[in-house]
Amino acid sequence: MNVVCIGAGYVGSVTAAAFAEWGHHTTVVDIDPRKIELMNAGQSPIYEPGLETLIARHAGTRLFASTAYDGIRDADVVFIAVGTPSTPSGGADTTYVAAAARRIGEHLNGERFTVIVNKSTVPVGTADLVASLVEEASGLQEGTHFAVASNPEFLREGFAVLDVLGPDRIVVGTGHDRTRSVLRQLYERLLSAAPATVYFETDVRTAELIKYASNAFLAMKISYVNEMARLCEAVGANALELAHGMGLDSRIGGKFLQVSSGWSGSCFPKDTQELALLGRHYDCELSLVEAAIASNERMHRYCIDKLRRRLKTLNGKRVGILGLTFKPDTDDARVTQAAAMIRALLEFGSQVRVHDPQGMEMFRRYYPELSVRYCGKAEETAHGADALLLLTHWEEYRSLDWPGMHAAMRQPYILDTRNFLHPPALQALGFRLEGLGVERSAFG
Ligand code: UDX
Repeated sequence: MNVVCIGAGYVGSVTAAAFAEWGHHTTVVDIDPRKIELMNAGQSPIYEPGLETLIARHAGTRLFASTAYDGIRDADVVFIAVGTPSTPSGGADTTYVAAAARRIGEHLNGERFTVIVNKSTVPVGTADLVASLVEEASGLQEGTHFAVASNPEFLREGFAVLDVLGPDRIVVGTGHDRTRSVLRQLYERLLSAAPATVYFETDVRTAELIKYASNAFLAMKISYVNEMARLCEAVGANALELAHGMGLDSRIGGKFLQVSSGWSGSCFPKDTQELALLGRHYDCELSLVEAAIASNERMHRYCIDKLRRRLKTLNGKRVGILGLTFKPDTDDARVTQAAAMIRALLEFGSQVRVHDPQGMEMFRRYYPELSVRYCGKAEETAHGADALLLLTHWEEYRSLDWPGMHAAMRQPYILDTRNFLHPPALQALGFRLEGLGVERSAFG
């Protein structure tokens, strides 16, 4: 089939590479010529494990990239995978989706039936909006010349290639039989290669809502375990073992129960806000979602308060930050708990040195107002430091020159918000290491 994918971001570039892998003639369209050049040269426009190999395998044979929309004319399926950032009111901004819809409409010729698919996470009702914009721009009719479906993407950054090639489920929302059969055909290769994947068809609005409801549920799960971690610290229980014990119940499941300084990233904060807004708009109380958001912000503050209690005051203290991205194995530092926490440290009068293996460039770009010192080597964050705050559990942080860092610090204190470092080894070096929710046990 001929597939066009609008957007070469975290969703679009992986989706397009996967469709090429399944044998479809795929064209990525993006306004950024740098991304297009990279993809045509067989390189990845983003940092994502395994993506470059996939792109290199198909670039120039089945995978093409362009800044022009010409490919729409011959497309069987067009994916909209552009960004939907948050508006100041917390809702998802569909400006880019609307612009893509208009451009698609201008290039449809009505000679072949084209399925337009919303892959970006878009507010409920966006499929209708896209359909009317395409009708307006093309003069064609939805249902006859084209159809708009919803096919939300559930990939996790850092595991995007694995998630796209073998997802738990594919959710397809459409009311048209013809669209259903086009999309079944599109995913045929995936379903035979990944037989455990469930293919689920529903109506458009339900599909749109499944994405929000799933992300909010996962965010609630993490907020809940983080609240439990705070309670563990208060009563002297162990949050790691608590999460393990809870997860042994198959109805709860052991995933997404890792304590952290809070969830962030380009999906959870945006999607929970949008869902909460939708609830308010329809006068439908979503108190659990609202509580998960508030609880998450409290978790960021809780970590800074813990650091403040340990150092007595943060004013004039030097704090080294390990990890700026919202999680490891990504360069994504657009929406990250690190920003909120560094901002608080600076307001308290601390001097902050930061390191991240992949995310420093993006962090600097998105948070130019945060005056921190960027360190090329993780070890440099320890120079003269009163504390190290580990925010992102990058694997390489396990094997830093910890003896050297101990020698370089003014006070050898580490707050490991991911309970990730190995306490006995670091304690043997003379560090005072604390985690979250494990106060009186493993972390001593
Ligand atoms: C998420 C969803 O998982 C994915 O299905 C959706 O398509 C997009 O949003 P992603 O944003 O890539 O994916 O990150 P994810 O791995 O889900 O982590 C989100 C945040 O939760 C990160 O800050 C992560 O560190 C945190 N997290 C995750 C925890 O604090 N504890 C956990 O147990 C799991």
